[in-house]
Amino acid sequence: MGKILVTGGCGYIGSHTVLDLLAKGHEVISIDNYSNSEPSALDRIKAVSGVAIQHYEGDLCNPEALKTLFREHGDISGVIHFAALKSVGESVEQPIRYYQNNLEGLINLLQAMVTANVPRLIFSSSCSVYGNAAALPVTENTPLQEAESPYARTKQMGEQIISDVMHTYSSLNCAILRYFNPAGAHESALIGEAPFNKASNLVPVITETAIGKREEMIVFGDDYDTRDGSCIRDYIHIMDLADAHTRALDFLDSHTPSNQPEYFNLGIGQGVSVFEAIHAFERVSGQKLNYRVGPRRPGDVVAVYADYSKAARMLGWQPKRNIDDIMKTAWQWEKRRSEKA
Ligand code: WQD
Repeated sequence: MGKILVTGGCGYIGSHTVLDLLAKGHEVISIDNYSNSEPSALDRIKAVSGVAIQHYEGDLCNPEALKTLFREHGDISGVIHFAALKSVGESVEQPIRYYQNNLEGLINLLQAMVTANVPRLIFSSSCSVYGNAAALPVTENTPLQEAESPYARTKQMGEQIISDVMHTYSSLNCAILRYFNPAGAHESALIGEAPFNKASNLVPVITETAIGKREEMIVFGDDYDTRDGSCIRDYIHIMDLADAHTRALDFLDSHTPSNQPEYFNLGIGQGVSVFEAIHAFERVSGQKLNYRVGPRRPGDVVAVYADYSKAARMLGWQPKRNIDDIMKTAWQWEKRRSEKA
């Protein structure tokens, strides 16, 4: 089996994927610089799984931290790379920080992997690489449009960098996972989205408003060309997303390395508008949400949702949860977080 290194292992998607890896018998180590997470995620992983994973505090933009880690673990058989900045809105305000962090971190990781001859990489990409796609749902062959934000462009560039590195280093095998909108929390309510900074994603903003951490929630625009005027996204439950990562690792194990990455859309194929997400929360929680409509947010794509049939065919992956499960688990987590605060 060998060890799996999870970069950004204390983050939202990272910590839930660590749980799925552990549940499937993998040995996991992680590295995180806590730029959008906290070390307490490790306690939550232990509370759910009973396992205290070996963890390094470190920044992928510091090659020495990676050299130390790979020197101390010569048996890493795969890497799942989450560590990156990921807010669409923030990337419009801080483009240099996003390019430097997301690209330098990836390049340093690739160098460390090639030097250590680590054969498998799972790269956390994003549906935002499609931009405002000409047709929906998007498949992995949908042409990539102009990125709508620096964040999205770092993912487009990251995919290109990996493709070029694989062309030269044929021993490297990579799956590029294009996430749609990850949301929700582990069913135990012991772990969930715990951004170190103020949440910017829709679902945590909804639950923080409902619990009273925020006065109100603003809908960023209701004048889009969609069925109710608000933007449409494909919300995927975090545990369905985690499951896809361990399946992608197994796929790379059995897949003869070609010198090109394999791309997979990870969404559930259902478009949900902002207003529909709000109504789902109100239905599931029994609580009215205090929101109002404000101006559009720069960088937003009007609508995007997935055709995930390739992941179903090649990974045997099927999403098991929907927007109601997302709102139910996110609300349970928010209430538990507030009890403990
Ligand atoms: C969703 C919708 C907002 C907050 C995310 C991740 C990104 C990438 C792609 C994986 C948009 C609206 C939000 C609010 C609102 N995922 N909204 N009021 O921008 O689609 O990007 O998915 O790689 O990492 O950030 O997600 O949750 O920010 O926005 O109206 O207070 O909700 O305008 O239409 P987004 P989001």
